Amino acid sequence: VAARRSYHEKVLDHYSRPRNVGTLDKKDKSVGEGLVGAPACGDVMRLHIKVDPDTGVISDVKFKTFGCGSAIASSSYVTELVRGMTLDQASKVKNTEIAKELCLPPVKLHCSMLAEDAIKAAIKDYRTKNPQAAPTNLAGT
Ligand code: FES
Ligand code: FES
Repeated sequence: VAARRSYHEKVLDHYSRPRNVGTLDKKDKSVGEGLVGAPACGDVMRLHIKVDPDTGVISDVKFKTFGCGSAIASSSYVTELVRGMTLDQASKVKNTEIAKELCLPPVKLHCSMLAEDAIKAAIKDYRTKNPQAAPTNLAGT
């Protein structure tokens, strides 16, 4: 019987069947990498995005997370969320949105922060590698 404060079934679903686990070829110019750690617990997330250079749309996403169940669920969820988004849209994804969708309890908020940080870092890396692509003033946010 699920306790009142037990994790939402969406967390368990993403945790037990994580989507888009793996890596993309980061030597590929169209791939951006975000590698981030959570100071609170030492967990690490690596996220790769592949971007269509003509449209600025994220066409593929892969992640590897060395961390707790909530971090794995957050990264799995975020890969599904940002696929098909433009870089500008993806750069606005908030951890609170992820946490809300997965019903993470407050002590697990930093786990979803890892996913937000990872996607931002991957976008930044892509833009560094492709300075002339998809001009935007949101770079580095
Ligand atoms: Fe890192 Fe959660 S404390 S696994
Ligand atoms: Fe640290 Fe989840 S990422 S406990």
